[in-house]
Amino acid sequence: MAYHERPTTNHRSYTGFSTRMPTREFTTHSAEETIVLGRSLAAALTPPKLVVLRGELGAGKTTLVKGIAEGFHAASAENVTSPTFTLVHEYRGSQGNLYHIDLYRVDTQRELETLGLDDLRDDKSVLLIEWGEKFPRFERERDVEITLTRLAENDRQIRVIA
Ligand SMILES: Nc1ncnc2c1ncn2[C@@H]1O[C@H](COP(=O)(O)OP(=O)(O)OP(=O)(O)O)[C@@H](O)[C@H]1O
Ligand SMILES: [Mg+2]
Repeated sequence: MAYHERPTTNHRSYTGFSTRMPTREFTTHSAEETIVLGRSLAAALTPPKLVVLRGELGAGKTTLVKGIAEGFHAASAENVTSPTFTLVHEYRGSQGNLYHIDLYRVDTQRELETLGLDDLRDDKSVLLIEWGEKFPRFERERDVEITLTRLAENDRQIRVIA
């Protein structure tokens, strides 16, 4: 079965200038479905964007990035692996350059600065940051927040807020 989308209300007020997409919520029932969802979300992630991916260990953040990278024609799902130790993976695609970042092991401001993430931010880049919420600046600067919640062994709620 394909992933399904549950209608949600966008609680942000409409300003007349907003090009923001409303909050969207999905449920997936397998890693494969999450990859398919990631592919479709890629269309909304036009550069430049800073995306914070939230969710506990094993929630499916990296799995979703596999689909987003495919949607960007930047990498195939099996070639997208967790940047657990290398901290930043770069994928160049026709729709822009994806940077997949994992800040789980990054604890101090100094460690963060050594990554030089600001240098990656240009008009062609989309930064997908796992554990970005550890640093308040990413909470402030993020364009999109995607929160994954484990509902059961293979079920995930995926909420996209822009
Ligand atoms: N519906 C689903 N969506 C995504 N992953 C799922 C789903 N059902 C089961 N899984 C499994 O859950 C795991 C998710 O792992 P993944 O590395 O994507 O998580 P993560 O959020 O990036 O964790 P971490 O914080 O450790 O990096 C995988 O083993 C995947 O196969
Ligand atoms: Mg991960």
